[in-house]
Amino acid sequence: KETKLWGGRFEESVTDAVERFTESISYDKELYKQDIMGSRAHATMLAKQGLMSTSDRDSILQGLDEIEGKIKSGNFVWRTDREDVHMNIEAALTDLIGEPAKKLHTARSRNDQVLTDFRLWCRDAIDKIIARIKHLQAALVILALKNDGLIVPGYTHLQRAQPILLQHLLIAYIEQLERDAGRLLDCRARLNFCPLGACALAGTGLPIDRFMTSDALGFTAPMRNSIDAVSDRDFVLEFLSANSIMAVHLSRLGEEWVLWASEEFGFITPSDAVSTGSSIMPQKKNPDPMELVRGKSARVIGDLVTLLTLCKGLPLAYNRDLQEDKEPAFDSVKTILGMLEVSAEFAQNVTFNRERIQKALPAGHLDATTLADYLVKKGVPFRTSHDIVGRSVAFCVSKGCQLQDLHLDELRSISSVFDEDVYEYLGVENAVKKFSSYGSTGSECVSSQLGYWVTKLGIN
Ligand code: ARG
Repeated sequence: KETKLWGGRFEESVTDAVERFTESISYDKELYKQDIMGSRAHATMLAKQGLMSTSDRDSILQGLDEIEGKIKSGNFVWRTDREDVHMNIEAALTDLIGEPAKKLHTARSRNDQVLTDFRLWCRDAIDKIIARIKHLQAALVILALKNDGLIVPGYTHLQRAQPILLQHLLIAYIEQLERDAGRLLDCRARLNFCPLGACALAGTGLPIDRFMTSDALGFTAPMRNSIDAVSDRDFVLEFLSANSIMAVHLSRLGEEWVLWASEEFGFITPSDAVSTGSSIMPQKKNPDPMELVRGKSARVIGDLVTLLTLCKGLPLAYNRDLQEDKEPAFDSVKTILGMLEVSAEFAQNVTFNRERIQKALPAGHLDATTLADYLVKKGVPFRTSHDIVGRSVAFCVSKGCQLQDLHLDELRSISSVFDEDVYEYLGVENAVKKFSSYGSTGSECVSSQLGYWVTKLGIN
């Protein structure tokens, strides 16, 4: 068995079970690019500070290039007995270039190294997620543009409430996604500080330049406190929280679209490209992708809970428990990227069933609130008008008709305030036209909202 990089004080090697149990290489190889990037910056700084010769630095940099090439082409052998990504790369570098490699870990611990890698990784991951958010937002805008003027029932309590423009509803999701992206950007700005040089926990007496490595790696500044630098995981917690909130948004979108695809709603028809069938029922065409968007939100939330639970009882500074922080983060990112991608594809592959929606639209007295506003405009106090319209609806229910079907004398028997012009307020189409407040479903408001997103997302 090869002697461990930390093997000096040990007389016996670890058992196979312990080796298998404590390794992280099976998953933390995901960090190899960031690990190599960090080592490059560290070696360059060590040479500049006179802690390593320039020729040692050069052979380290060359060796790292070669290792990176091998990893990329799949020719690098990851070894479990070398524990994690950091020691795999360092040991491989030693195999490759010999003595100079032994200087690389000067004034560095795996504790600050792993966090440097992880912060860089999260930074990249956030950028990828934000690009996918924009892509989904654009798909929703395009879907909205395709469905200009389409009125759908708006729901509260899943009961028909008021008529709305479909575009208005789709933009609601775009707004939520925008805040999701904003949360990630906040998180990115807060996590972009460099732990490298914190070493094990206390820093070092060697003359390193933490500002130099921080700059070279694109961080805002070195972290001020070395103990904080190696023990903090709140940057991942914040990242996974932002992902979880986004996952909840996507899950609600998924739920809505699953409902809409049902025979009962019949609002949308997803194309075959985004549907799957049943192994027994030949007629079935299911909206599985959106069901799984809803389902996979559970994983993303679970990943956050795993990490919260992991951190809650740990004393400062580093504890090996923290090695368990990576898999939930990797899983959360992979899952959320998939959810965003598939939601965008779904949006690109659904058709709204205009006729069917329109046919079902008169049901549910969607214009009742607009009618109450009509009476308010005539000077009736809102509570009174609410009551008058409530009684009008009750009358409709007993007659089995809609508000617009009532004759003026029927309406006037309920309140003498009703006049001929009431019919401009009745019926779903008329009702929608009456909305005018900022942010409302009125067609001008919605088209200006939509215009905002078309410009912001650069859609033409
Ligand atoms: N693989 C470890 C992790 O992910 C690296 C840090 C190990 N540090 C230590 N002192 N054992 O946390």
